[in-house]
Amino acid sequence: MQKKSITLTDNRNGNTYTYPVLEATRGPDVVDFRTLFKDTGLFAYDPGYTSTASCSSAITFIDGAKGELRYRGIPIETLAKEHSYLETCFLLLNERLPNADELQNFDLELRHRAFLHEGLRSLFAAFPDNAHPMATLSAAVTALASFYQEHLDMNNKAEYHEMAHRIIAKMPTIAAFAYRHSLGIPCIQPDIDLSFTENFLTMIRAYPGGKMHLGPHGHETIREVEVRALDTIFTLHADHEQNASTTVVRNVASTGAHPYVAIASGIAALWGRAHGGANESVIAQLEMIGSVENVDAFIKRAKDPDDDFRLMGFGHRVYKNFDPRAQVLKTLQDELKEELGLNSRLMEIAAKIEEIALNDDYFVSRHLYPNIDFYTGIILTALKIPKNMFTPIFVIGRTVGWITQWIEFKKDPESKIARPRQRYIGD
Ligand code: CMC
Repeated sequence: MQKKSITLTDNRNGNTYTYPVLEATRGPDVVDFRTLFKDTGLFAYDPGYTSTASCSSAITFIDGAKGELRYRGIPIETLAKEHSYLETCFLLLNERLPNADELQNFDLELRHRAFLHEGLRSLFAAFPDNAHPMATLSAAVTALASFYQEHLDMNNKAEYHEMAHRIIAKMPTIAAFAYRHSLGIPCIQPDIDLSFTENFLTMIRAYPGGKMHLGPHGHETIREVEVRALDTIFTLHADHEQNASTTVVRNVASTGAHPYVAIASGIAALWGRAHGGANESVIAQLEMIGSVENVDAFIKRAKDPDDDFRLMGFGHRVYKNFDPRAQVLKTLQDELKEELGLNSRLMEIAAKIEEIALNDDYFVSRHLYPNIDFYTGIILTALKIPKNMFTPIFVIGRTVGWITQWIEFKKDPESKIARPRQRYIGD
C-alpha cells in the first residue's frame, strides 16, 4: 500500500515538496514537516501551537469534538467511577491497571516516601507570611532536586520509577507545608496509617500533632465521602496530553535538566489563570458576582470585545462540545450536594451563568463550554479547602502525568532539544 503523504507547491518558484503523513492510532494523523526548512528555507508559523503536534505519545488521548478523554486507552468516566487515584497513577506509569498486590505495594511505597527531609522543611521559613502556596510549591520542588542528585539511568526502570514515585508521594506533603506556612501554622508530617488522599486532607486540616478539630462530639474525622470526592478530582487532573504545563515539562526535560526542576517549571506554568489557576479564579469570580441578579451584567462584560474580562472556567483549546472532566464533576457535584453541604449561593450563581452561556450565541458560536475548573471550586470549598489551595490540588493530581510524560520524552528516540524558530520582524 502506498504510504500517505501531502505535496506542497511553492508558488514562488513552482517547486513541489512531498511530506509523509504519519498515522495516529486515534485522532488526526500528522504531517512530518521535520525537513521543511532544509527543503524550502521556510519555517512553519504556528504561535500557540494550534496546529502543531510536538511529539508522539501513547499516554493520553483526547477527542475534543466528541468530548472524549482516555488515559492509556481507558475512558476517564470509567476511571473516575471504578478506580482510585492511586490505581490511575499506576496505570499511567505502567500502561495497565494494577492487581490487588501491586496496588497494595504501590500504596505502601508512596506512604513510606511521603515525608519531607528535615533540611527541606526549613526552606519554607524563608518565604514571607501569606506567600501564595503555588510560589512556595514550585520553589520547594526545585529544592527537592538538590536532595536527590544521583544520575538517573533511563535504562533502569526501577531507578526512574523510584524517582517518579518519590515526587508523587511528596507533592501532597509539600503542598500542605506551603499552605500551613502561608498561615503560620506548624507543619505536620504525613501519617503512615492514612491513605494518599486522606493524608493530604489531614495535613491541611489537622492541628499541630496531627489531631483533628475538637468539637462537642470529640475529634472531627475526615469523612469517606470527602476522600472519595477529592480522590476523583485528583484522577480527573492526572494527565491531559500536551497542555501548556506538560509542554513546559517536556521542554525542560529536553535540555537534560533534573526531572524535579522540570516539574517545578510545570507548576509555574500551571499557576496562570488561563491554565490551572482558573480554578481559584472561578470561585473568586463567583464571589465577586455575588448574586444571581448580577450575572447578566458580567455576561455582558465577557462578551464585550473592548473588555478583557473573561468568564473563568469557560472555554478550552481542545474541547469544543463539552469537557468530559467537567461532566463527571457536575454529576459528582449533584450526587454529593446534600452529603457535602455544597454552598447553595455560589451554586445558584454558577447554574445561572451556565444556563445563559449554554444558550447565548456568543458562547455557542465560539464553542465555549464549562471546563473542569468551573466545577472543582464548589466541591473543594465544601471540602473546607481554601481558594489558594485549589491550584496546588491540580498540581498534586497532575504530578503523575508530568512525570509520566517526562519518562516518555526521555525514552523516545525522536526526542530533541526544544528549540523553535521565529519570524523576525525587527530592524
Ligand atoms: N470568556 C469569554 N470569552 C472567551 C472565553 C471566556 N472564558 N474564552 C474564550 N473566549 C473568546 C475569545 O475572546 C475569542 O473571541 P473572538 O474570537 O471574538 O476573539 C474566542 O473565544 C476564542 O478564544 P481564544 O482565547 O482564542 O481561545 P484559546 O483556545 O486560545 O484559549 C482558553 C482557551 C482556555 C485559554 C480560554 O478559553 C480562556 O481564557 N478561558 C478562561 C480561563 C479558563 O477557564 N482556563 C481553564 C482551561 S481548562 C483547565 C486547564 O486545562 O488548565
